[in-house]
Amino acid sequence: MDHIVITGGNRLQGEVPISGAKNSALPILASTILGGGECVITNLPRVVDVLTMGKLLGMLGATVVHEGNRAVIKADAIHSTEAPYDLVKTMRASVLVLGPLLARWGEAKVSLPGGCAIGSRPVNLHLAGLAKLGADISIEHGYITATAKRLKGARIYCDTPTVTGTENLMMAASLAEGTTVIENAAKEPEINDLSEFLCRRGARIAGAGTDILTIEGVQELQGGDHDVIPDRIEAGTHLVAGAITRGDVTITNCRPAHLEALLMKLREAGADIQAGHDRVRIRVTGRLKGTDIRTLPFPGFPTDMQAQMVAVMALAEGTSVVTETVFESRFMHVEELRRMGADIRVEGNRLIVTGRPTLTGAPVMASDLRASAGLILAGLAAEGTTEVQRVYHLDRGYERIEEKLRAVGAVIERRKARTSPTMR
Ligand code: UD1
Repeated sequence: MDHIVITGGNRLQGEVPISGAKNSALPILASTILGGGECVITNLPRVVDVLTMGKLLGMLGATVVHEGNRAVIKADAIHSTEAPYDLVKTMRASVLVLGPLLARWGEAKVSLPGGCAIGSRPVNLHLAGLAKLGADISIEHGYITATAKRLKGARIYCDTPTVTGTENLMMAASLAEGTTVIENAAKEPEINDLSEFLCRRGARIAGAGTDILTIEGVQELQGGDHDVIPDRIEAGTHLVAGAITRGDVTITNCRPAHLEALLMKLREAGADIQAGHDRVRIRVTGRLKGTDIRTLPFPGFPTDMQAQMVAVMALAEGTSVVTETVFESRFMHVEELRRMGADIRVEGNRLIVTGRPTLTGAPVMASDLRASAGLILAGLAAEGTTEVQRVYHLDRGYERIEEKLRAVGAVIERRKARTSPTMR
């Protein structure tokens, strides 16, 4: 297994171009099977999850031609309605094919995702919503099986705003008979992006970006083109790389409006931030100040930036309280940061972070995608060498992260796994 080795202590300086959003690309790709005709998707990030979704669509029978940041997909016919366990266990977002398969092809069999390093992640709201639309749903042998002749529009209330749940229901309702209203819908920018793509192909969706979505079902969707929005979490991660190294970093090709909560917190901590139309510059000269953070659904502070900000707070002056409200046990990075000298106490869903003047490099283990990013950021600022193991998590969601960091002055490299002499 590859690992990443970082020599900390270098101030980052320069421009980092931001790639397309993984969390937008995945539902957009899944939605291509909702209609016939050609879909051309650009600004796709070159990350493992996007490749996995392409593979899944191919397994279902779609024609997928994926080159670099562009994919051309045609799903005039499919030959399977099953997303198998072997694939779903590597990427939970595979569940995003459930709504489209059911709505267009009348049946879907999708493996239940199972456990996850950041806590229990049920799909009960996806299933309850689809049942409201008239689907027959059962769970047997680890698989969700859903069938429906044609879905029928309904009023759906989500107990919790769920991002992929809202996306699944929005896709399914697009082909249902009549009108669907989704209340307490998720408002993340990725929902808007999917809605725009679906509407361009003939769907009728109003309210994306608010907590009430109204979808008038249509008979069919056509093909269409779409340029995926920039990745706000990748953008945030590189801004934090600038902050934690007391550097001067400008991220380009981003949407500052999607970063508001993070920018406010970084400003509160003492960073100098200038936001332009599609770029943000961050400059930090002295030690940052501790700041309390509470993760929330958009437009609140994103849970996907929590681990990265904990790394910053571990080096800030004073004490910060970080409250995680979205996922129940998203603190796997804490033990690893402690190995680097961080002073962090866990109290239920809160972290009490007492900033230290320095962290020291250490071998650490990544547990999930964003925790890996948090450890890399800590390594950039720590004294000495940090070796981050299990970086396959990172490859699921960050395009060329070492290359992008190296280009602004980080000393970071990927090393191939050493083979143990006792192993053959
Ligand atoms: C998406 C993102 C992920 C991000 C998360 C929260 C993708 C591919 N992934 O994940 O990066 O961290 O949003 O912003 O877009 N819940 C239920 N029942 C359900 C569904 C969700 O109880 O059926 C709960 C979850 O356990 C969690 C909360 O709702 O506590 C929000 O989760 P959700 O928005 O669904 O996360 P994902 O869509 O899986």
